[in-house]
Parts: sequence; C-alpha cells; structure tokens
Amino acid sequence: MSIDSGSKHGMWSSRLMFIMAAAGSAVGLGNIWRFPYLAGENGGGVFVLAYLLCIAFIGLPILMAEILLGRAGRQSPIGAMVVLADRSGVSRRWSVIGWMGALAGFMILSFYGVIAGWAMAYVPSTLSGDFVNISAEAAATSFDSFILNPWQVVGWQSLFMLLTVYIAARGVGRGLETTVRYLMPALFGLLVLLLAYSAFTTDRFVEGLAFLFQPDFARFSTDSLITAMGQAFFTLSLGMGAIMAYGAYMPKGSSIMGTAGTIALLDTTVALMSGMVIFPLVFANGLESSAGPGLMFITLPIAFGQMVGGQIFGTLFFVLVTFAAITSSISLLEPAVAWVVEKTSLGRARSAALVGAIAWAFGLGSAFSFNIGADWTLFNGMTFFDTMDYVSNNILLPLGGILIALFAGWRLGQEELLSQLSEDQRWIPVWRFLIRYLAPVGVLIVFLVTIL
Ligand code: TRP
Repeated sequence: MSIDSGSKHGMWSSRLMFIMAAAGSAVGLGNIWRFPYLAGENGGGVFVLAYLLCIAFIGLPILMAEILLGRAGRQSPIGAMVVLADRSGVSRRWSVIGWMGALAGFMILSFYGVIAGWAMAYVPSTLSGDFVNISAEAAATSFDSFILNPWQVVGWQSLFMLLTVYIAARGVGRGLETTVRYLMPALFGLLVLLLAYSAFTTDRFVEGLAFLFQPDFARFSTDSLITAMGQAFFTLSLGMGAIMAYGAYMPKGSSIMGTAGTIALLDTTVALMSGMVIFPLVFANGLESSAGPGLMFITLPIAFGQMVGGQIFGTLFFVLVTFAAITSSISLLEPAVAWVVEKTSLGRARSAALVGAIAWAFGLGSAFSFNIGADWTLFNGMTFFDTMDYVSNNILLPLGGILIALFAGWRLGQEELLSQLSEDQRWIPVWRFLIRYLAPVGVLIVFLVTIL
C-alpha cells in the first residue's frame, strides 16, 4: 500500500484538533435551533428516544465509516471515493456518494444560512435592549415581523455566507482551527448558565424534563420516525461527506472509535442541554411547544429579557450561536471546495468563493420562504425552505448513509480497512456488524415505514 503522506489541502495539527473541528461541524444550529423545535413538533419523549437510538446504532457506526474513508482516501469525498474504489477493485460509480453529498450540502446550506442569519440579526437587537422585560406575546410578534422583511433576512444571510466563505478560503489550519478552538468551549459555558437559569427560576424545569424524556407513545407517528432519523444524520453532519472531507486531514495513528465516540457524545450533550433550556421556558411562558422554526428565537429573548445581565449574556449567546453555525457551515462547503481545488487551477480562495456563491443563490429561495415567497410551494404544500430541509435531511443524508455503510462494510479492501482500524482492533467485529447489517437495514426500514 502507498505510504500515507497526508492531504494536499493541509492537515489538522493533532487528533484533538480533528475532534474540535468535527465537533465544531456537528454542534451547530442542528443542536440549538433544530433539535428543540423538532422535539416540540413531534411530541417530545418518543421523538427523543428514536433520535437517541438512531445516533447510537446508525449514526455512530457511519460516523466511524466516514472518518475512515476520508482518512484512507485523503482527498475530497468525490476524489476519495474514486481512489478507494480503484484500490479496492470495485466500480468507480461509488463516487456517486460524493456527488450526492455535494448536492445535499448546497441544499442544507440554503436554509442553514438563513437561520444563521436570524441568529446574527439577534445580536444587535439583544445588545440594544430590545428584549428587556419583553412579554411572550411581544417576543413572538417581534420575531414574526423580522422574518416578514425579505431584505433584512437576505442581508443577514448574505453576511453569514460571506463570513463562511472567508473562513473556508483561509484553509484548514488557519481558518478552521482557530475558530473552533476558543468558541466551542465558550458556547458550552453559556449553555450551562442558561440551564441553571431554566432550572432555578422557571419552576417548570420538571415539566420540561418530562416532556423531553417521558415517551408518550400515543404521539408516535411514522413521520416522527423519519424526522428523528434525519435529525440524527443532520446533527452529526453525516451522509454528505463533510466528515469524510475532514477525515482526510486527520493524522494517522489515533483511534477512530474513540474519536467518533467523543464527537457523538459532545454533540448529543449539547442538543439535550438545549432542549432542557428551552422547554421549561416554553411552559413557564405559556408558549406552544410546537411553534416550529421560531421556537428558539421566541423563547430565549424572553429569558434574556428577565435575567440579570441578560443583555450581555444574550448578546454573547447569539454571537456564539453564530460561530457554532459558521464552524458547521464551513464543513458543508468543504467537500465541494476541496473538489474544485483538486479539479481546477482556481486555488483555495477562489474555489471557496465560487462554491459559496452557488450556495448563496440557492439560499435566496429559502430566505424568501417566510415572506414574499411564502406561497411558492413545491410539492405537498411545502415552501422552498421546507423542501430543502425535507429532501436533504430526510432523504439524501440517509441515502448517502446507506451507501457509505455498504461501501465501507462490503466493498472497501480489507487491507485498507485493517490499516485504518489498527488502533481499534477490539471494536472491529462490533463495528462490522453494525455497518454491514444494522445501519443500512435500519435506515431502509425507516424509509419503508414512511413510504407505506
Ligand atoms: N451538524 C450541523 C448542525 O447540527 C450541520 C451540518 C454541518 C451538517 N455539516 C453538515 C449536516 C453535513 C449534514 C451534513 O448544525
């Protein structure tokens, strides 16, 4: 086998930096914004249970597979799949994993940039005291009138995309590492503070916990099931090659199981904490748990409005959420950027600008879905925003996941596989069972249950 000389795009300086970058990709709007509102819409406990099962038995093995394939291929996901297919003596058509992933990345960024823009917009409003002692009703009205203004939403989305491109253009070491290193721990600290606020001042903490952790099977629907699985993929950044792209920059010689486990644990902790912050606030303020995408933007301003120092903590919180979103959005861009760098002579900066511009244009459709484009519905009465979200998370990511599992489990050359898992000898049989059978069959069953 060839001697591993790393990736031409650069390398993480250590295993810890890979964990930080991958956790930076995983922890984002999916944990703080999407998980709580989906749990709210899908009845709480059962959804959370399904989500946790999907993380453990589908997400974790596929996370390992993506790191493994990326580190073995050392290129953009499309390029890595071609190289690995050649080396394993199977069809190059497996590179469809990379192509589908790039498409999913554009679709996700389309709505991701819009929501991240909302979070950014809340920085100046919180700072200027707009939310001081705000009532639940006023918080909802203020959110609704904000998203009704198309130019504001597009403006913030554009600013966010510019920032994303700027960091992606700086490249692996300088751009990504420095961003995640300090901001992730800070975000975690603020979540702990908010959790304490929810626990000690709302008197509804127990109710919030019960909503999240007590399964009520009467609320179980097949649609909740596919949503839970889609969320498991989304929150771990799986199924589109983001982790594969990052894995390509991971130094050899550290355990993939340990790394993947740490990432999944961090990610799940942040999601559950966000839920534990938000639901007590929902109940204490008489809000609807099924408020949808606006949930976080209505509940948290109320809390910051009442809290001592809330103006400062609130501002800091939305700043950190913005950064959490950036460390995720650069990973959505990375597979396509790395591919353009490999295939053209544009160089890193111009490749990032090109890919970012396409993603931005896609995003306009999502930005308008809340205002002037609210009745441009595609199928099933879904707006452009809803369609991007549904198709990417509930269909493309799980489909990509199945293909990744099948390739890593059945097609990848054994020598290649054993060399990547040499630090994880004792986990190989377990992982092999999960990746060959449980993960692909699990995704398939969820698909079938939803279609039938
Ligand atoms: N996981 C991120 C979040 O929870 C979003 C994200 C980043 C993502 N990269 C991804 C989702 C790749 C799917 C695929 O906010």
